[in-house]
Amino acid sequence: MRKPIIAANWKMFKTAGETRQFLNDFVPLVKDVKDVEIVIAPSFTSLAAASELMKGTSLALSAQDVFYEKEGAYTGEISPSMLLDCGCSFVIVGHSERRQYFKETDDVVNRKIRAAQASGLHVIFCVGETLQERETGKTFEVVQRQVEHGLKDIAVDSIVIAYEPVWAIGTGKNATPGQAQEVHAFIRNLVGKRGGDAEKVRILYGGSVKPENVAVLMGQADIDGALVGGASLDPAAFSKIVHFKSS
Ligand code: PGA
Repeated sequence: MRKPIIAANWKMFKTAGETRQFLNDFVPLVKDVKDVEIVIAPSFTSLAAASELMKGTSLALSAQDVFYEKEGAYTGEISPSMLLDCGCSFVIVGHSERRQYFKETDDVVNRKIRAAQASGLHVIFCVGETLQERETGKTFEVVQRQVEHGLKDIAVDSIVIAYEPVWAIGTGKNATPGQAQEVHAFIRNLVGKRGGDAEKVRILYGGSVKPENVAVLMGQADIDGALVGGASLDPAAFSKIVHFKSS
């Protein structure tokens, strides 16, 4: 009922040339995929090159961040309309690396989601607890705060949420399917309480997703896709993740 999304978050990897090379290899590997939505989020400087090569494919282009103002004196920032102009249909907002290294607060994340949605971009909204928060029993409290603040005054039906436990990102340590499912179900319940059609909202898991572990994660009732960092940089590995049904 909910079409799975497999999204690549390339973070600060790949030049425009390397992006072209990836897509030249990757697009033929996934040309027959119809039942999975594939999203690629390269760096800002590779968006135009990626958009060019993704024309005529079913792949969707995403940015990794966006600013909440339409235009103005905001040196270094990128507006929603600039992303649309580059061919983006998605944007990732509130990734834990943005929260951790660039001090993005729940309020900033909320403003970004609102601006992106108002422009017509689909948002992949990231939440997740740190290791210390998990170990001190605060996982649900933290995730609830992030979801409630992030989704303030937002039409939740069209949002995609990514649950990414910070301790599982880039560490090779992923949450067990049971740990992930527990939080996904909790998030779906929260979305329902906010008046959204919780059954429609797609909730992705992120954190060390690999070809070897994607199928069991995707087998969980409330896991509707994956946000993949490291393993999305290689066309063959990412294609295997997209083909999780046959693994
Ligand atoms: P990872 O990153 O797959 O390298 O753990 C996931 C993410 O940060 O989105």
